[in-house]
Amino acid sequence: MRIAMASDHAAVGLKAALADWLRAEGHEVEDLGTDGEASVDYPDFGYRLAGHVAAGKAERGVALCGTGIGISIAVNRHPGVRCALVSEPLSATLSREHNDANVIAMGARIIGIEMAKACLTAFLTTPFGGDRHARRVGKLGQPLI
Ligand code: RB5
Repeated sequence: MRIAMASDHAAVGLKAALADWLRAEGHEVEDLGTDGEASVDYPDFGYRLAGHVAAGKAERGVALCGTGIGISIAVNRHPGVRCALVSEPLSATLSREHNDANVIAMGARIIGIEMAKACLTAFLTTPFGGDRHARRVGKLGQPLI
């Protein structure tokens, strides 16, 4: 799968570890930054990732920051993406099954590498449930009234 990743400075270590693991699992990974530990602003990287996924340049996105909260808010401001902030695999599974999430967000200061891998595995392997969920997800893409 083509996977794009982005993080702020708080999650560069987790991003690098997950990118290595995803590549070893056979995925094509594009790292959209940030690249070092110099302080940056998570909206810049969340917006970059959201645009990338919405444009079809990646099938899925991985958004990381200290808590996962800030970057998930940024990603979800783009109407073409559905970003799920998770810290355990059941939420990751249901974000695919019910919400057709195309971006997963996690917090490097919240979860460890093994939990992050378990969340990512669930996110990448669970299909969308369709049916009644499709109607609801369709409404998420409509303009606000
Ligand atoms: C950066 O210090 C921190 O605020 C950021 O990574 C994130 O946790 C914000 O939601």
